Amino acid sequence: MTRIAIVSNRLPSLDRQAASAGGLAVALSAALAESGGMWLGWNGTVSSEPDDGVRLRQSTPYEIVSLALSEQEHAGYYQGFANRVLWPLLHGRMDLVRFDPQEFAIYRGVNARFAKQLAARAAGADVIWVHDYHFLLLGEELRRLGVGTAAGFFLHVPFPAPDTLLVLPRSRQIVRALTAFDLVGFQTQNDLRNFREFVVRHLGGTVSDDGSVQVPGRRFVADAFPIGIDTRRFTELAASKEAGQLRARLSGCLGGQLGMIGVDRLDYTKGLEHRLLAFERMLEARPARRQRASLLQIAAPSREGIPEYHDLKDRLESLSGRINARHATIDWTPVRYLNRAFSQTRLAALYRLSRIGLVTPLRDGMNLVAKEYVAAQRSDDPGVLVLSHFAGAAERLRGALLVNPYDIGSMAGAMRQALDMSLDERRERWSAMIAELRDNDVHRWRDDFLGALLASRARSNRGS
Ligand code: G6P
Repeated sequence: MTRIAIVSNRLPSLDRQAASAGGLAVALSAALAESGGMWLGWNGTVSSEPDDGVRLRQSTPYEIVSLALSEQEHAGYYQGFANRVLWPLLHGRMDLVRFDPQEFAIYRGVNARFAKQLAARAAGADVIWVHDYHFLLLGEELRRLGVGTAAGFFLHVPFPAPDTLLVLPRSRQIVRALTAFDLVGFQTQNDLRNFREFVVRHLGGTVSDDGSVQVPGRRFVADAFPIGIDTRRFTELAASKEAGQLRARLSGCLGGQLGMIGVDRLDYTKGLEHRLLAFERMLEARPARRQRASLLQIAAPSREGIPEYHDLKDRLESLSGRINARHATIDWTPVRYLNRAFSQTRLAALYRLSRIGLVTPLRDGMNLVAKEYVAAQRSDDPGVLVLSHFAGAAERLRGALLVNPYDIGSMAGAMRQALDMSLDERRERWSAMIAELRDNDVHRWRDDFLGALLASRARSNRGS
């Protein structure tokens, strides 16, 4: 079996039930548990000095090597270049991008430090698999250290159109660094098209029909690998005894109302304000519905040290408060807004209990909540997924009610349509979606990516 060395900013939680709203760690733990190997990442702490890595031995069949960030690295790499430049830029929020060359230098430094750790520790690995926008320069740094191991990169977030990317002063240099990998993977066909266009227009590259890309001095492969969830495990979790007990308790409190649920990190890309406004519009347009519909919005705290996230938190508190003040009655609260994270078991129970799943980001790489909501439904009485066109998940989940989250009126209309949908239609839409999720789960995603990575390497070894 192929031994993998994974690098990602976040490490998987040692506790499978831990409260976590980020999809990456959940998806990759499932993948690595089968193949063995090692996982290198940030341990989540900030120390006065950078450390040399602590190897944790644990019950999983793989090793975890965790590094602390220094205060300067945390500010410049994580809070700075990664989350106040790349994150907004890759999600199309050019207005929020604030580039600082010093932070970019720190970002490069962290990529180089992780590459060095990997070079020293991953000698036994057959492949290196680097994840997400925190490590765009890591492949280049690895090659600089003389590491020749097959290396792939997967971007979990969107890759925007070339003109958006060009807003960033170092964009050519950054995309050029990605060409050091043997395989560069994206969530959707749309992301892949944008990447290829950038390479052709701005790096003087050419793209062949088989997906291989050539830039002066380098040949590699770029392709789309839409990430999945562990569909079977999630369905089992939703149907488990523990989730059932939670549901029984909760359905008592909900008193037969038709529930809508939203579960997101508290992030400006998730369209939370638009969603709340659409919900309010729906209540206003159909007062008769009022007492039957309520929205449970879970917004897990995220990146709290960053001002844009603070501001959003304040705005959401006042918006949900205003909606409740205006529309609540003695025995009905329209919005339950919870600002904390929940365990996977609780979420699975809540998804199964909710008639409508609202996943309406303004832009999202894939969005695994959409997939988990579908996987948690009962086949005899499934709920409806209302899904943004701008989530990567929309490319394949055609059974969802697709909405434009910027169009508040039509999003309110989709909520009404979901509330009124017949059982037959709900079943038909859900069957198409669950079939897709069973075919394309996280295991298939891992196999497809690793297969393509090894094939790309074999091809360059043959020099073709
Ligand atoms: C997104 C990113 C992940 C990230 C997660 C949580 O899903 O694609 O790379 O881990 O958000 O964000 P955080 O900044 O807390 O790691």
